[in-house]
Amino acid sequence: MKKIPIIIDCDPGCDDTIALLLAFANDKLDIKGVTVSAGNVNIYNTSENARKLIGVFRREIKVAKGCEKPMFKTIVTAPEVHGESGLGCLILPEKNKKLEELNAVEFLAKTLKESSEKITIVITGPMTNIAVFLIAYPELKEKIEKFVIMGGSSIGGNVTPSAEFNIYVDAEAADIVFKSGVRIILCPLDVTMKAFITEKELEEIKAIGGYASEVAYGAIKNALDFYKEFYNKHEVPMHDPCTIAYLLNKNIFKGKEVFVGVELRGEFTYGETIIDYRNKFFKEKNALSLNEIDRIEFVNMIKVAVTKLKTVV
Ligand code: BDR
Ligand code: CA
Repeated sequence: MKKIPIIIDCDPGCDDTIALLLAFANDKLDIKGVTVSAGNVNIYNTSENARKLIGVFRREIKVAKGCEKPMFKTIVTAPEVHGESGLGCLILPEKNKKLEELNAVEFLAKTLKESSEKITIVITGPMTNIAVFLIAYPELKEKIEKFVIMGGSSIGGNVTPSAEFNIYVDAEAADIVFKSGVRIILCPLDVTMKAFITEKELEEIKAIGGYASEVAYGAIKNALDFYKEFYNKHEVPMHDPCTIAYLLNKNIFKGKEVFVGVELRGEFTYGETIIDYRNKFFKEKNALSLNEIDRIEFVNMIKVAVTKLKTVV
């Protein structure tokens, strides 16, 4: 079967790490590269995490460091969820995997230009790299098959009352991406809050054994501890892996074609996404917004990935 060519733009990050493991384990995907954004933590740490993860699990994949700050604002990070390093207490081994000399924007351009087929871009962090790329290389837009994005919410925010983190960190960049005209599959909090892993399921992942299960356990445990402390919950949403899960099996999701807009000027609503499920604005639809998931199958996909990676390390 023909593989799906993808580039993953991410800010690892606990749930980004699970998205990467899901992708690394799957031969349905042809990973043309990983580009790194600043977000959950600063660009140095997100790049170190991506570089080291790739060094351990899929050394042949190219990894390029991206923009160090949003287009117009100072960076907002989330160490309270992801730890100061971005991966909580998890310490990854040094396998001397090198970052590309090209930065993420140049790497995206080179990879798309040289590709004979269109490439899907998965975005699981703030969209600075992608927006800068779209501005710098508009002629390469046609080489993008689609964007599969974790971001936004119509059910309230996780960083302000109405804004989701990835959009809030660089709302101007998100606005450029949503207006790009490229096909968009959106995984907002509407669906990702339903894509949770329970404490019991996390123990089952740990019991699989192997280094991938240690990494998955460490990354998820860190986010789960935050959810326990702040929300008194014994489950934690796995936002970013929804993007990869969609590419692997879209039948486990439901969604609707909608107009999505980004709020840039509100006094209290900067970074809020308007996901117009009821078509109140009569605007041209620019995204398929997902809002339902078969959670059991989703968790199973993560377990299968961790099991497969056992043979790698
Ligand atoms: C998003 O924000 C980050 O903290 C996560 O990695 C995810 O991409 C969820 O709002
Ligand atoms: Ca992320």
